[in-house]
Amino acid sequence: MTHATLTPDAKPETAPAAQDGGQSRKVFVKTYGCQMNVYDSERMGDALVRDGYQTVDTVEAADLILINTCHIREKAAEKVYSQLGRLAKLKRERNAEGGDLMVAVAGCVAQAEGQEIIRRAPVVDVVIGPQTYHRLPEALARARNGESVVETEFPAEDKFDGLPNAPEKAIRARGVAAFLTVQEGCDKFCTFCVVPYTRGAEVSRPVDRILGEAERLAEAGVREITLLGQNVNAWHGKGADGREWGLGELVRRLATIKGIDRIRYTTSHPRDMDDALIAAHRDLPELMPYLHLPVQSGSDRILKAMNRRHTAAEYVKLVERIRAARPDIALSGDFIVGFPGETDADFEDTMQLVREVRYASAFTFKYSIRPGTPGADMEGQVDEAVKTERLAQLQDLINQQTRAFGRECVGKVVDLLLEKPGRNTDQLFGRSPWLQPVIVDAKLGEIGDIVRVRITQPGTTGLYAELVE
Ligand code: SAH
Ligand code: SF4
Ligand code: F3S
Repeated sequence: MTHATLTPDAKPETAPAAQDGGQSRKVFVKTYGCQMNVYDSERMGDALVRDGYQTVDTVEAADLILINTCHIREKAAEKVYSQLGRLAKLKRERNAEGGDLMVAVAGCVAQAEGQEIIRRAPVVDVVIGPQTYHRLPEALARARNGESVVETEFPAEDKFDGLPNAPEKAIRARGVAAFLTVQEGCDKFCTFCVVPYTRGAEVSRPVDRILGEAERLAEAGVREITLLGQNVNAWHGKGADGREWGLGELVRRLATIKGIDRIRYTTSHPRDMDDALIAAHRDLPELMPYLHLPVQSGSDRILKAMNRRHTAAEYVKLVERIRAARPDIALSGDFIVGFPGETDADFEDTMQLVREVRYASAFTFKYSIRPGTPGADMEGQVDEAVKTERLAQLQDLINQQTRAFGRECVGKVVDLLLEKPGRNTDQLFGRSPWLQPVIVDAKLGEIGDIVRVRITQPGTTGLYAELVE
C-alpha cells in the first residue's frame, strides 16, 4: 500500500499502459482516515492483484484510482470532492488520448453519501461501502461495461471471507509490523459520531479466522500485530475451549503464536475495558504497555450529552486500575473541544482531567458537525473562535505532557523492534514499547530484529537510543 501523495494535476509523462485483456491493469490506491482504512486498502489491493491488477505508486501510471475515504470530520469528507475535481480533468485528458481511466470511491464517505457522490462528481465509476469490498472486482467489471455502480448495502456475508488472504510476498513487502482487523462497526452511537452509520453494527471476526491470519503474518516475518476495531475491546467470540472469549483471552492466545512478539490493539472504549484485558496487561510481556483510551471530555454534563455513558471519575478510576496492573503503561486518548453546550467550566474540567491522567500522547479535535448525527441538531453550537482557542490550550498541555514523557524515558533500557530505514541511510527506525518513534544507528541490527537499547535523548520527532551490550 502506498501513501504517496495524489498529484492528479501533473500531466501524465508516459502514455497510458497498453491493455492486454485486463492482464496488466494498474491500480493506484490512496488511503485517508484511520488504520482500519489502511488495512482495508491492503485487503482490496490483494483482491485486485488476484484479479490481474498491479499496484503502482502514482496516479499517472494508473488505469484505476481507488480512493479509500474518511467521513469522521467535515474536512476529511470535503477533501474527497476537491480531489475528485482534479481527477475529472485527468480522466478527460486520458480519455481524449484513447485511455479508459476508472475511478472508484470506497470507505466511509462512500457509505455515507452513496449515489450522491456520482451526482456531484460524475468522474466516479464505482462507489463501494466498507462492508461490500469483496464485491469490488465484480463492481469494476460492471463499471467497465458502462454501468455506474453503487454498492452500499450491509450484506449478511462476511466481506473478509470473500477477500483473498494476502500472499506472503505482499505481507513481506508491508513490513514487520502489521494490522489485523478483529472487530468492526459500532453500536455505541456517541452523538457526535458517524461511525455507527458508516461502518454498521458491531461485528466480531471469529477466533479461527483471526488465528489463521496471525499465523500467516508470523510465517511471513511479522513480529508485531496491532489488532484493529472501532471498539476493539468489545470483541468477543467462541474460544477454542468452547467458552466465550473477550479480547483479553484472544490476546493471550495470540501471544502463544511463534514469531508474534508484540501485540497492540486500538481503539478501545472505556466501558469495554474488562478485568481479563487488564489482567492481560499485567501478565503478558507480549502485550505492549500502551493504551489508546479516548475519553473525549472531562465534563460529566458533556459526556452525558455525547452519550458516552461514563463519567469523568469513572474514567479516572479505570485508569488507576489499569496502572495498578501495569504501572509503566503509556496512555493516549482522543478529545473533542467545542461540543454543543460546552462552557468554559466544562472545558476546564477537560483540562483538569488531562492534568490528572497525564497522557503520553493524545489526539485533539474541534467538534465538527456531522449531518444525520444527534449532535448536529443540538442547541448551543460553539463559536469557531472559541473552539480554536480551546484546542490551542489543550494541545499545549498535551504537548507538554508528551515532552515530559519523552524526557522521563531517557536512561531507560527497552526492547526496540527495528521496522524500517531511518531518514538517513546510516539510521534505523523502530518503536519503543510505548509506541514512541526511536532512531538508532543502522549497524545496530537488521529490520525485524528486536534489540535491547538505552534511550539516550529526546529529539524533535522521537527518541534516540544506543545498544546495550
Ligand atoms: N471508536 C473510537 C473513535 C473513532 S473516531 C472511540 O470510540 O474512541 C476517532 C476520533 O475522532 C474520536 O475518538 C473523536 O475524538 C473524533 N471524532 C469523532 N467524531 C467527531 C466529530 N464529529 N468532530 C470532531 N471529532 C470527532
Ligand atoms: Fe464513534 Fe462513539 Fe462508536 Fe467510537 S464509540 S466509533 S466515538 S460512536
Ligand atoms: Fe474515518 Fe471511517 Fe475510520 S469515518 S476514522 S475511515 S471508520
